[in-house]
Amino acid sequence: MSFTFTWYGHGCMGLEINEKKILVDPFLSDCPTASTTPEDVHANFILISHGHGDHIGDSIEIAKRTKALVISNFEISTWFLNQDIETHAQHIGGGFHHPFGYLKLTLALHGSLLPDGSDGGNPAGFLLTTADDKKIYLACDTGLFGDMRLIGEEGIDLAVVPIGDNFTMGPDDALRAVKLLNPKNVIPVHYDTWELIAQDANSWAERVRQETNTLAHVLNPGQSFSL
Ligand code: NI
Ligand code: MN
Repeated sequence: MSFTFTWYGHGCMGLEINEKKILVDPFLSDCPTASTTPEDVHANFILISHGHGDHIGDSIEIAKRTKALVISNFEISTWFLNQDIETHAQHIGGGFHHPFGYLKLTLALHGSLLPDGSDGGNPAGFLLTTADDKKIYLACDTGLFGDMRLIGEEGIDLAVVPIGDNFTMGPDDALRAVKLLNPKNVIPVHYDTWELIAQDANSWAERVRQETNTLAHVLNPGQSFSL
């Protein structure tokens, strides 16, 4: 089995598992650091972590073009369904066997108001278990929470965590998150999009290397990491 993670900038990520393409939080056309465009990106599935504009992004346009299935919480799924987009609703703690693996929605400490003011329910992260039992945890937008330890108990191969501060965990709490999750690999995201969340990802990665056994990988938008 092949697994490739690509960071497209900000909180937008692509997962490629065998032939299946999963796009997460596709904020591209208004993202200053985006490495692709809504017209060029591929998707069979679109995962939406929460309702904020920098995560809903271009998802409607991409879903209509690609016919990708949108997977999110019940409230956001209903919002997409009302725009004639095919959806699969889940909720926090619930998992489902999709063609690309077993996907569980996890706790996230954040907000989720949709761009038009609709209620986007509770924000979520994602825990994916692939067919060959690789575990990928996408924290998405969240503050630090102690139950990351429970997520870590599952044995995480790759964790993707925000380090931007202001809206999400900053570098200090993201380092504490790595210690709770104890993943084999970690990739930082949700930073450098704007000056407000500018961070030195390389010095953060150095702290991870010094204080944990986790391998930290700093990507530029457009770069990939394979397991
Ligand atoms: Ni957000
Ligand atoms: Mn965000």
